[in-house]
Amino acid sequence: MRISIYIAISANGLISNSRNVPDWLSPEYGQGFVSICQKMRAVIMGKTTYNILTPDHLPLQKEGTTVVLTTDEQAKSDNPTVVFTKSKATEITEMLEKKGHTEAVIIGGAMAMSEFINVGLVDDIYFVMEPVLFGSGLPMLKDVEHESKLNLQSVTKLNENTVQLHYEIKKQS
Ligand SMILES: NC(=O)c1ccc[n+]([C@@H]2O[C@H](COP(=O)([O-])OP(=O)(O)OC[C@H]3O[C@@H](n4cnc5c(N)ncnc54)[C@H](OP(=O)(O)O)[C@@H]3O)[C@@H](O)[C@H]2O)c1
Repeated sequence: MRISIYIAISANGLISNSRNVPDWLSPEYGQGFVSICQKMRAVIMGKTTYNILTPDHLPLQKEGTTVVLTTDEQAKSDNPTVVFTKSKATEITEMLEKKGHTEAVIIGGAMAMSEFINVGLVDDIYFVMEPVLFGSGLPMLKDVEHESKLNLQSVTKLNENTVQLHYEIKKQS
């Protein structure tokens, strides 16, 4: 199972501004978001991100699997692809493999990404770096102690001011 992260970041590495308004995201980030989710067919996110996207902006609407991390056992969705779970990253990976998935993408937020980074289950990261600096905001990772080393795979200019950086995470030996 190959797991990727697809995430927009400010030029100083934050994933959200303190206003928590996503008016800094380019159309190209949005196009890439839809495209990678539809290609991977399995999408993982935290409940806060789900609450922002549901119902109209969830990337999978009919087919595939949308995994939403939450401790809320009463959570329900009208979207047939959604599975709510409080399972750990390894169990989620096994569940997706049983459903026949060979790849998945994590689309945020910080807690969901950290859950998978913490146990070394992320293979690729796609950063879409937008041309903004935030004085304060949300870092990408939370409560992750170890460092990961990355191999740059590609740099793609998405528009006049936005670049996508694709890194592979080096596996620790
Ligand atoms: N820049 C980008 O591309 C991008 C993308 C997505 C989101 N964002 C931003 O990121 C922010 C949200 O990030 P976030 O870190 O606060 O929230 P998040 O990861 O989206 O969701 C956090 C919630 O998910 C559940 N959760 C997370 N890890 C869990 C685990 N291991 N087990 C069980 N439940 C778990 C908990 O929900 P319960 O409380 O229900 O248990 C938790 O409160 C927003 O500001 C959003 O705008 C940015």
